[in-house]
Amino acid sequence: MVKKSVVKKISQEVQEKFEHESSGHDWWHIYRVWQLAQNIGKKEKADMFVVELAALLHDIDDWKNNEGDSSVGAKVAASMLRKYQVAEEAIDQIVDIIMNISFKGVTDKQSKMVSIEGKVVQDADRLDAIGAIGIGRTFTYGGSKGNLMYDPGVQADPEKYGTSHGKGSSTTINHFYEKLLLISSLMHTKTAKKMAKGRHKFMEQFLSRFYKEWNGEA
Ligand code: NI
Repeated sequence: MVKKSVVKKISQEVQEKFEHESSGHDWWHIYRVWQLAQNIGKKEKADMFVVELAALLHDIDDWKNNEGDSSVGAKVAASMLRKYQVAEEAIDQIVDIIMNISFKGVTDKQSKMVSIEGKVVQDADRLDAIGAIGIGRTFTYGGSKGNLMYDPGVQADPEKYGTSHGKGSSTTINHFYEKLLLISSLMHTKTAKKMAKGRHKFMEQFLSRFYKEWNGEA
């Protein structure tokens, strides 16, 4: 099967699997990461076959709901790819990217991404967490957890990342300081760094406007 058809088949399979997923990782997150990865990957001269397939499959373990065990997602991905006779060398590269992709908080700054393809997909996944899309996703997620949008009496604590999402333990605005505003500094590629700059600036503008409106000043 030609590469273009493999990508199309896998995108259809992933879309079907995620169709009924209501968490932050719905099909449209995968779709946006796929688009971002294509844009960044072309500019960074990466192997686009590996980039596109890894972007489409990067959250496949969430579909199976195996939080914390990335090897399950890797196995699902590998068997999907083997159905279309994708070369074992490419499967190894894609599986390696899937295993290393998740953001484990500010303490996990040591990236294990070695290949340019992995860097491109990780950058794309992180870009989708910031900017206007990031703001939308964060408020949707906070609402689903029953968190307050903002409480001037609750301080943000970046060290609390990953533990601060329980009901009432933090606010959506605090999530900006605990995660979103820390992401732009984690980009690998030149292309993504530039894009992250614009998204970061937009979030800062959003926050300053938010406080002005909160205090009745705008
Ligand atoms: Ni993702």
